[in-house]
Amino acid sequence: MDSLDPAGPIARRIDSLFWLTFWVAVAIFFVVEGAILVAAIFFRDRPKREEPKQTHGNPKLEVAWTVVPILILAALAVPTVKTVFDLTDTSGSEMTIEVIGHQWWFEYVYRAEGITTANVLVIPEDTQVALALTSDDVIHNFWVPRLNGKRYAVPGQVTTLLLQADDPGEYWGQCGEFCGLSHSLMRARVQVLTAAAFDQWVADQQLPAAEPAADSLAAHGLELFQTGLFTADDGVSYACTQCHVIAGVNDQTAQAAPNLTHFASRNVFAGASLDRTAENVARWLSNPPAIKPGSYMPNLNLSQEEITSLVAYLETLN
Ligand code: CUA
Repeated sequence: MDSLDPAGPIARRIDSLFWLTFWVAVAIFFVVEGAILVAAIFFRDRPKREEPKQTHGNPKLEVAWTVVPILILAALAVPTVKTVFDLTDTSGSEMTIEVIGHQWWFEYVYRAEGITTANVLVIPEDTQVALALTSDDVIHNFWVPRLNGKRYAVPGQVTTLLLQADDPGEYWGQCGEFCGLSHSLMRARVQVLTAAAFDQWVADQQLPAAEPAADSLAAHGLELFQTGLFTADDGVSYACTQCHVIAGVNDQTAQAAPNLTHFASRNVFAGASLDRTAENVARWLSNPPAIKPGSYMPNLNLSQEEITSLVAYLETLN
């Protein structure tokens, strides 16, 4: 999470603008502080020094210290405004991905490819990607510092943010707008792949969920996912399929929670705040709001046996 370590052309544009402004500010700092030091040292009160001639106003100086800052700011405005407009120009974008903010996780929809995923945004290297951001509930803000600045995700609106990365790798992000109890745990991960690896990823994601071997622990987990009813602390019974979709298992257009079809292909979950290890998934299932305060997934009071089966099933969803 470092804006000063840009990993793509868009972030580099912002970084160059920052350093230009920074060095102009440094020069002004030394000129102003130097003038103060010179005045304080050479014109200080000394014994036998007569009181200097008292004056009021100096039109030439006043015009100078008004006009010079105007010129400096006007000069800086040229690259600033140009950068702002260039960074909203989507004409060079090769693909569009919809980003939907939820309390507290990001959903990614690759409309053309027919893929819905969550928490980990996968993009190809050296490709300008246009994100179409919106929100399902409150205002969120999508921010991956090494790839671009921030952009609001506003309910009922679509905002655009470009991403482009030079090299394959992992880039961390964070929701940049306070959006409720677990805002700080609303993170994002961008995974950048080579073109070939990305094509393979798309092909894999388009497949329906893997089927667990008959009579296995995972098969029992699938059964729990499909038919289990679990009573939360509020006394209401919930089924996994009310909120989660696994392609090939249950079909549902409205998704209140992350699509789990290829859950095990992602290296993080729970708003990208936890590494996807069997231990962490078990910990999450045992009491989600204890990990993410306010989580819409309630504590379903699952038994240890149910948790073990569900974890085994989720692990097969690669
Ligand atoms: Cu979403 Cu903060």
